[in-house]
Amino acid sequence: MQNTVREIPRKILVTSALPYANGPIHLGQLVGYIQTDIWVRFQKMQGNQCTYVCADDAHGTPIMLRAQQEGITPEALIERISREHRADFAGFSIGFDNYYSTHSPENQRLANLIYQRLQAAGHIATRTITQAYDPIKHMFLPDRFVRGECPRCGAKDQYGDNCEVCGATYSPTDLKNPVSVLSGATPVEKESEHYFFRLTNFEEMLRDWTRSGTLQPEIANKLNEWFETGLQDWDVSRDAPYFGFEIPDAPGKYFYVWLDAPIGYMASFENLCSRTTAMDGGRAENAGAVFRPGMRFDDYWGIDSTAELYHFIGKDIVNFHGLFWPAMLEGAGFRKPTAIFANGFLTVNGQKMSKSRGTFIKARTYLDHLNPEYLRYYFAAKLSSRVEDIDLSLDDFTNRVNADLVGKVVNIASRCAGFINKRFDGQVSASTQFIMHGGENLHLVFCDKGKTIAAHYEAREYNHAIREIMALADIANQYIDEKKPWVIAKQTDREEELQQVCSFGLELFRILMLYLKPVLPEMTAQAEAFLNVAPLQWQDCGKSLQHRINSFTPLMTRVEKDKINAMLAAEGPIVNAAKGSGEPARASTPSIQSDPIGATITYDDFAKVDLRIARIANAEHVEGAEKLLRLTLDLGNETRNVFAGIKSAYAPEALIGKLTVVVANLAPRKMKFGLSEGMVLAAGPGGKDIYLLSPDSGAQPGMRVK
Ligand code: 2FM
Ligand code: ZN
Repeated sequence: MQNTVREIPRKILVTSALPYANGPIHLGQLVGYIQTDIWVRFQKMQGNQCTYVCADDAHGTPIMLRAQQEGITPEALIERISREHRADFAGFSIGFDNYYSTHSPENQRLANLIYQRLQAAGHIATRTITQAYDPIKHMFLPDRFVRGECPRCGAKDQYGDNCEVCGATYSPTDLKNPVSVLSGATPVEKESEHYFFRLTNFEEMLRDWTRSGTLQPEIANKLNEWFETGLQDWDVSRDAPYFGFEIPDAPGKYFYVWLDAPIGYMASFENLCSRTTAMDGGRAENAGAVFRPGMRFDDYWGIDSTAELYHFIGKDIVNFHGLFWPAMLEGAGFRKPTAIFANGFLTVNGQKMSKSRGTFIKARTYLDHLNPEYLRYYFAAKLSSRVEDIDLSLDDFTNRVNADLVGKVVNIASRCAGFINKRFDGQVSASTQFIMHGGENLHLVFCDKGKTIAAHYEAREYNHAIREIMALADIANQYIDEKKPWVIAKQTDREEELQQVCSFGLELFRILMLYLKPVLPEMTAQAEAFLNVAPLQWQDCGKSLQHRINSFTPLMTRVEKDKINAMLAAEGPIVNAAKGSGEPARASTPSIQSDPIGATITYDDFAKVDLRIARIANAEHVEGAEKLLRLTLDLGNETRNVFAGIKSAYAPEALIGKLTVVVANLAPRKMKFGLSEGMVLAAGPGGKDIYLLSPDSGAQPGMRVK
């Protein structure tokens, strides 16, 4: 950060990346939200006027298609997902001052405004481009919806934008033997006029801006590669059908989701401003401790704004925030961000989160089993200002939370509170700011550390902050260990000393909770209630305890392995169908008993699955495939080609003539070895233990399974 002179209190606007409104929040995303929330809470405790906004990212093809699949409108889908997202965030105490949606009138107005300003200033160009078009679905296909052979190395079943085998990047029209993921049809090439943002007009500004301390060094280096290969104009339009905002004066053309997504930061803030000014005294709903006089949009986004603006994001979206976004803001006459803070990805037990391993953990599943503050603490203990991935090792998580929070911090209070409550009617001794011990005043030692800890929070070096705080917790525990209140308590002539030692212990505990408050807001709120103190602010170190406290309730219990296992089981791998995906039919070793029943679905959900009886007309090995057999299925009036991952359990000859059950309305899937047009059902853990489902005799190919 630059050494600029700042207004006191600082005016700060903070955002987190807007989650797509097409799926639940998972623990990987929570790294970023927890990181941001800790920073915001710290700023609020400092007395700064810090505002934290976010929103659902509601537009784009995947959301449109998902709604179609569910048979509902996109509006209904994003409404439902928004409710789920809000509940998940609330569960983890992510304290947004406003949570909004990019599908909002404010966002439409701002997107139009920015676009029109860019256009007026000559930053928008139109060009006719050729794109893959699905002749059955009647729509242009986003790159990810076309698969085919890599034009460079020939690898099969690659996405339309890049090859996972040789790393080549290309456009979907370059793929050999392309297939639409939506319909299985061969896409045709079709022309269409697109609108481009002329990023190249901003090259000089971006070169300066990206090197001026606004980005972490790793990110600045990464973006430098873009300058080296040469900036490209950015395609910001999409053709109907599309769920988004129609471009002014361009019927049938829509803003690409990534154009209006970051504008959603502004829109959410604008929405908050209008609500705060409209409300009594201009106080926002969740405004935290800091009084918020009616905020003005222009004070934060105007070109002369002196407010600080920070975007916390994941490392995968730095090009949007480090290049396109500042260029759009500059071109449209708005201020640019003060800094962009990128975080790394989350691994679980050292591996990428994986649905088949049951380590793709949804926020809701976690909340169903474990205390959210365990995770907030664990992430804090690992997070730094660097763009590093962090690992959630579940054993380490258990040990660390139990040792630090329960074993060290809560332990201090539980060893002292009982005596104060029972023997002194809750009354703390008068002089808790003089805790002389080993030639030092521990109260001063603790308060002095506040500056270092604050500097770590400010610099997003939470791991260092936690280390300092735990070192203080060790000192507090040593103090109690040496004083042994439980021994003093047995000696009737040492009442005053007992009261003093326990009061000192509680006072040190109070300071520890103050320092942990950005990380553990719930536990701190309970501690504040128990200590009978007003919500702790950063400058409150000196306000030592001297009054009557309330009775002690355990502030946090130990992490239990059983609960972790229950959480993993709830996300557990349910891969009963013999997927032709080339993955094992089931993750490595869970026992059959531990295979949990999946989430409840409605009858209507179930009714969408068209299960049919099929006769296996032919079965054969697939050259080069370890796990797959190619099945030719007779469905009565049609034949289907299906790949099934059942080779480890069946010789192909043994299958020919058998009746089985097939998911007949599964979208065809282009695989490495050809198109798979359905899925057969099988049960069992995998390997030799896979059992194909067969109907009783009498069933005929083509019959619907009901
Ligand atoms: O990558 C994502 O999940 C996007 N929805 C993030 C958008 S952040 C901002 F630009 F809106
Ligand atoms: Zn390739």
